[in-house]
Amino acid sequence: MADISIDVLIIGTGPAGSTTAALLSSYGIANMVVNRYRWLANTPRAHITNQRTMEVLRDLGREVEDEAYMFAAHQDLMGENVFCESLAGEEIGRMKAWGNHPLSRAEHLMSSPTRMNDLPQTYMEPLLFKTACQRGTQARMSTEYLRHEQDATGVTTTCLDRLTGKEITIRSKYLVGADGAKSLVAEHAGLPFEGRMGVGGSMNILFRADLSKYVAHRPSVLYWVMQPGADVGGIGMGLVRMVRPWNEWLIVWGYDINGPEPEVTPEFATGVARQLIGDPDLEIELLSANVWTVNNYYANRTAEGRVFCMGDAIHRHPPSNGLGSNTSIQDAFNLAWKLAMVLKGQAGARLLDSYDAERAPIAKQIVTRANQSIAETGPIFAALGMAEGVSPEQMQKNLQARTEGTPEAEAQRAAIRKAIAFKKYEFDAHGVEMNQRYRSNAVVTQGQIEPAFQLDPDLHAQPTTWPGARLPHVWLYRHDNGAEVSTLDLCGHGRFTLLTGLGGEAWVQAAQAVAAELGLDLAVHVIGPRRPHVDHSGEWARLSEIGDDGCLLVRPDHHVAWRATGMSAAPEADLSRVLRAVLDR
Ligand code: FDA
Repeated sequence: MADISIDVLIIGTGPAGSTTAALLSSYGIANMVVNRYRWLANTPRAHITNQRTMEVLRDLGREVEDEAYMFAAHQDLMGENVFCESLAGEEIGRMKAWGNHPLSRAEHLMSSPTRMNDLPQTYMEPLLFKTACQRGTQARMSTEYLRHEQDATGVTTTCLDRLTGKEITIRSKYLVGADGAKSLVAEHAGLPFEGRMGVGGSMNILFRADLSKYVAHRPSVLYWVMQPGADVGGIGMGLVRMVRPWNEWLIVWGYDINGPEPEVTPEFATGVARQLIGDPDLEIELLSANVWTVNNYYANRTAEGRVFCMGDAIHRHPPSNGLGSNTSIQDAFNLAWKLAMVLKGQAGARLLDSYDAERAPIAKQIVTRANQSIAETGPIFAALGMAEGVSPEQMQKNLQARTEGTPEAEAQRAAIRKAIAFKKYEFDAHGVEMNQRYRSNAVVTQGQIEPAFQLDPDLHAQPTTWPGARLPHVWLYRHDNGAEVSTLDLCGHGRFTLLTGLGGEAWVQAAQAVAAELGLDLAVHVIGPRRPHVDHSGEWARLSEIGDDGCLLVRPDHHVAWRATGMSAAPEADLSRVLRAVLDR
């Protein structure tokens, strides 16, 4: 007999675990989350918060979304991605990043009701965790996962209560391993991994110092420092990273993973800070310093029976592209509604298979992308004549060479510009953030052809209602008061939604009948003149890819489950068939 019994046990209160807990509690599922420490992240860690993640927070509630904005550095402060000799030294180039180029900003505004922002994990985690606990999650801190065993009806997990030193057993129907990059749950579940851990060495130096005079005129979250040794180990370049504008900072500096691990003493940390900022007299208030490794490692399978892993437990990669916490939160958005529907008896267990089918390819994609971004800093060093092995004296000469009026110098300047512009694949890769399309048994395409990407899929978001894609965002207007409402706001909140237009009323009746038949909460919206939501701008007509009498069936995670371009001869039978297929009924 276990000490505690709960529907879902979650190991880890990081972005993945806390989001899962918050979503499950919002959906009315009893869950418990444990963390081996007594509190949440004690260093800022991940910051970049992309629009897709903000859509998850918005789905949790406007108050959750608003609180994130309240504590975040606004998108306008993120954008002047600077490459320099040091913060006080010469600037070598820059590019507008994170949706701050006017063309990119337009794409951001058109893609989502939310805004990208920069929110340190020390703010994000408490927000998610608080939301979970407020809504019913049982949280147990200082509780360390030790092992689990699963059988046909559930999982028995043994944890160590670190306050008493006693072991406790927790019986749950499902176990979620959100226990980070050293995941024991993934290891014990026997998940197969590909790639390598520890491909580079890096150190984080967190400190306070007012650097306004170096940065306020070129606001950015990232200042890249090109100095001898900056391309060794680490993330490709020396980095001065804004934590809070402009008085809290994180320096990321690499070391050779094949050599001994450096001891980051206060003197050493101060020396690195002075060197990268370019101020030999700079005084810093050192907050913490630690070393970490660059990983290139992902799970080929993310679940085993009743055990599901997510976040860094299944994708381990450097912070390039800012994908770590974002992808972890998005994993949770994919899994939580499925667990809820299975536990409520609204879906069969096979629905859960779609988690692996949908998220394992994403794990591989983002690990590969983040590591590729490190490699893509090489051409900047090459263009500057700063490749590894070149002496500091020669480097200075090569840097100097670009300032001359010769054809060689002009060619060098062109090469530098090209290499910096190419970094948009790391710093402005909106497509990587927004274009996730799923293929699984929880999507019914009925042979509808996947639309090809018209622009580079890593750089540009391309809206489509092709089943498996995320529902496009369009601002609709409320008929009663004219207020803007995103199409995404009509969906989500743990339920399926059917969207149709004038002439699609038969879909509404069909949806109501099928919802009653299957015991589902299914929201239905008719979009059109004198209906509750009106497409005054015509954007919905342009992007929905269905006729007014067609319909979209949207999953609780905003992804399209099924699309009918027009009215069918038997709408109720069609909808019943599709929902039964998706929900394994
Ligand atoms: P996360 O690691 O956040 O959470 C794991 C949770 O599991 C923690 O609550 C932990 O205590 C708990 N846990 C682990 N083992 C346990 C056990 N046996 N029993 C109980 N609980 C257990 N990313 C980025 O994009 N930019 C950055 O600058 C950084 N910097 C950074 C610094 C440091 C020091 C770390 C550790 C990580 C980063 N990251 C980062 C990575 C980013 O923080 C990461 O991608 C997300 O936190 C992943 O979220 P998860 O919820 O998956 O794991």
